Parts: sequence; C-alpha cells; structure tokens
Amino acid sequence: MQSTPLLGGLSPAQFMRGYWQKKPLLIRAAVPGFKPLLKRPELFALAARDDVESRLLQRAHGQWMLAHGPLPRRALPPIKAPNWTLLVQGVDALHDGARALLERFRFVPDARLDDLMISYATPGGGVGPHFDSYDVFLLQVKGRRRWRIGQQRDLRLKAGLPLKILAHFEPQHDWVLEPGDMLYLPPRWAHDGVAVDECMTYSIGFRSPAPDRLASELLYRLAEQLGEHADSALYKDAGQPAVPAPGAIPERLVQFAQRALSRATADPKWLPVALGRWLTEPKANVWFQPLPEGAATATGGRGVVLDRRSRMLYLGEHVFINGEVVDVAIRDRAALQRLADERRLDARDSDRLGRSARKSVDDWLRAGWLHVDDDA
Ligand code: SIN
Ligand code: CO
Repeated sequence: MQSTPLLGGLSPAQFMRGYWQKKPLLIRAAVPGFKPLLKRPELFALAARDDVESRLLQRAHGQWMLAHGPLPRRALPPIKAPNWTLLVQGVDALHDGARALLERFRFVPDARLDDLMISYATPGGGVGPHFDSYDVFLLQVKGRRRWRIGQQRDLRLKAGLPLKILAHFEPQHDWVLEPGDMLYLPPRWAHDGVAVDECMTYSIGFRSPAPDRLASELLYRLAEQLGEHADSALYKDAGQPAVPAPGAIPERLVQFAQRALSRATADPKWLPVALGRWLTEPKANVWFQPLPEGAATATGGRGVVLDRRSRMLYLGEHVFINGEVVDVAIRDRAALQRLADERRLDARDSDRLGRSARKSVDDWLRAGWLHVDDDA
C-alpha cells in the first residue's frame, strides 16, 4: 500500500511497523478539508436519543460533573458557556458517512475496531488527563484542541471523582491540533485534550480485549455450543449416602463441574467459532431494520452491500456476521470473504453463489444486515 497523507506520508505498513501500539504519531493535515459529518444540532439530536450512548462532562470551580444520556437539549449547558464537553459513542452505526470514514482505517484488522466517537466541546472543555486501554486516532474536525500527552509510569487516579482522572499528569508533548490534523495514541499513554475554540474531535477507537473479559465471553459461548452439540445428561448422584454435614459440597459434584468445563473447551474447533461470534456481536443498542414480511430478496442483477451496522469476519471455513456463524462450502468461500473485506459483493459474484451461500445472503437481506447495492 502507498504512503498516505492520512499517516503523515507513511504507508500503512510503515505505520503499523513503527508506531502501532508503540508510540504516538502527530499527523498534520491527515485529512485536509474534511468537513464535520454532523452539524452541532444533529450531534445534539443523537445525544438526546435513548438508543445512543452519550455523556456530558462539565468542569466548574475545580469540580467535575458527569451526566449520562439520553441528554435532551435542555440537559446541555448553553453554547456560550465554557468548559463542557459532550461525547457521543457509536456514531458509525448511526451515520453512513461516519461508517465511510472508518474505511480509511481498515489497514488495521476489523476484529480490533470498536467505534467512532464524536466529541463536542466549548472552549476549556475536555475529559481531563487520563489514559485509555484503547488505540485511538483523534481526528480534529472543527476548531482547535490542545493535546498534552506523556508516557508516564504513575497511572494512579484521583479518588472520589465520577470519571478517571490521573492524580499526577506529566505531559511530555504539547500540541495544538487544527481541523484536519490527527493524533494516534497507543494504549496507556496519558493524554489531556482541551478545546481551544468550540471544537469537534472524532475518535476512531480500537479495542484490545482483556484476558478475563475475553475468557468470560468465550466460555459463555462455548457453553452454548456445548448445549447444542453434546448430550447434556444432568448430574446424577444415585448412590449418594445420607450425610451428617449437609453444608459440604460433594466431591462427585466437583468432578462433574470439572468435566463440564473440560467438555466445553475440549474441541479445538469450537474456540474459533466462539471467538468469531463474540467479535461480530452487535453492541446492545444496535438494531437492524428487517425487510417487511414476505418481501422478495431478489437482487435483480445487482450486487449486495453490508449495512453500516453489520460486523462480518471470517476464519477458515467459518464466516461470522452479527454474532452468528455459517460454515461455507469451498466454492463460495472466496466470495463471502470478499464481502467481509470489501463490505460489498458485485452482481457477478453474488449471482454465482451456490445454493447454501445464496440462502445465507437471502437471510441476511431479510434481516437488514445486507442491502441490494443501488450504487453499483
Ligand atoms: C475527547 O474527544 O474529548 C476525548 C477523547 C479521549 O481523550 O479519549
Ligand atoms: Co482518551
């Protein structure tokens, strides 16, 4: 891939080698001339919705105040008031242009992508000095924001606050970002972004699963898969003698528990399925618009495109979409993998699908996970 202004003249390969997860990169004019996708009232309207995750942060007299959405307009301070910021999460699921912006960052595997967050701030507004467990590209879209960042060991937080604020922030760099500029930050770098003018910043965030959370999500799905596949004979304790100490857990039950867990994790083929299902699981507030009952799914000689909310990944014979898995015949694997990689499939490829893959595509069209491509 070519060098790109998005990465300050680096190619995606150079960026991934030299910076990703390693060190910050300030990129002047990463996306020159980029215009806000949403005007202020449109962003405020999203924050008022109860199916959208939003937060309001205000600083007054040295105190932090945090309010969670839905945030109707009257819950927001006046535009003229300084020192407040509104954060709206998951905008890529709500706006086609926002989803399209993410396309520029697909040199990183989709499995790592979390979402696009938009923040609005009046002068002095920000979320305070903190660190994240995310990789993030902070694209300045409107107004100026001053970023101070540092790689400090001391990540202790101030006690008794409604948000994570570093107790001792030690910035090493100090930059003012103009519209079109972008800052890449690896996880755990301390940072503080303060609005200089009325400003908007777009955060393209990438999740790094923690092992405990990952294990919990995988075990949950492996247990479901165990229920679907194996015989699910209940614990039996015929032969249990009468006990003088009813509080004690029987050893036999401990062994049964151990066997249940071993069976859920025994088949190495189940783990990739559980992982793909989890990675493509839509967020709790994401809803699709299914086709009306009985509507035709014929594509009429056109291709198909993934809905902006759909998450689609693949591994071996498995294709995952929105938390579900299908096993794809060899003849259709390349086409469905292309649908995941390019988020569209042209008419030729879509017409050539075998019966079972075609049925999956029809199901996905009916569920609103895919649409007929009107642009092709
Ligand atoms: C913001 O855009 O105000 C916050 C982004 C961040 O610091 O993670
Ligand atoms: Co942050």
